[in-house]
Amino acid sequence: MADSITAKIFRYDPTVDEEPYYSTYEVPWVEDPTNKMTGMQVLQYIHEEIEPIAYDYSCISGLCGRCSMVIDGIPGLACWTTLEPGTHTFEPLTGFPVIKDLVVDRSAIKERFTDTEPYNKTVNPISEIKDIDYDLYWETLERINMCRECMSCYASCQALQMNNAWEKYIGPGAMMTIAQRYYDPHDEANRVEQAAFAGVFECIQCGNCTNVCPAGIPVAETIAVLQKEAEAAGLKPEAKSE
Ligand code: SF4
Ligand code: SF4
Ligand code: FES
Repeated sequence: MADSITAKIFRYDPTVDEEPYYSTYEVPWVEDPTNKMTGMQVLQYIHEEIEPIAYDYSCISGLCGRCSMVIDGIPGLACWTTLEPGTHTFEPLTGFPVIKDLVVDRSAIKERFTDTEPYNKTVNPISEIKDIDYDLYWETLERINMCRECMSCYASCQALQMNNAWEKYIGPGAMMTIAQRYYDPHDEANRVEQAAFAGVFECIQCGNCTNVCPAGIPVAETIAVLQKEAEAAGLKPEAKSE
């Protein structure tokens, strides 16, 4: 067999290591009909055949969102990332505290998703049932509902990673929970105002969140809609003058 993968893996155990380091492993190519290997296959080979490494996963089918990490500089799901033979680098999600190796602490960001009160805020949802049109339901609400809470968008977000807006901006993933109820005709909360207070104008529309989202959610475009609505409602902060 001619092909193989050279995997450079970020290693760090904060309880014993002073600094992170990288370990390099040779992983034999697995022949299958797709002639592709996933990042998860590479990690499993190392873990089972060479030495233990720490990484998270559950479904191995792109659904649970637990295996997100940065592979070759791009955030995404390890089980959903296909690799060619050659050298590939595996790192933890950017901007998250490392628990061990490729496992990060997502709890603080996870809370942001639930803090948005993403449930339908309707006093009596059956008193006035509104039909939801087919396209809105399937193209928008169901699409946003596909969010795996994988946090890949956070690791790629320029507002967070470059502008360090972690305190002012809940981030693209949690903003999608607000957007879903903004589009939901049954929801009676003012989601545009909520988006403004959650820092929607910190988004600089770099588009990275849309590009990395494994659920295919048009994250940046959806945020742009909320920005437009919030600006029309007079909620955009005035630009700071020098
Ligand atoms: S488009 Fe906005 S939310 Fe998305 S990654 Fe860029 S700055 Fe972040
Ligand atoms: S919006 Fe996409 S990238 Fe962000 S957490 Fe949800 S599934 Fe992951
Ligand atoms: S292990 Fe569930 S999405 Fe990768």
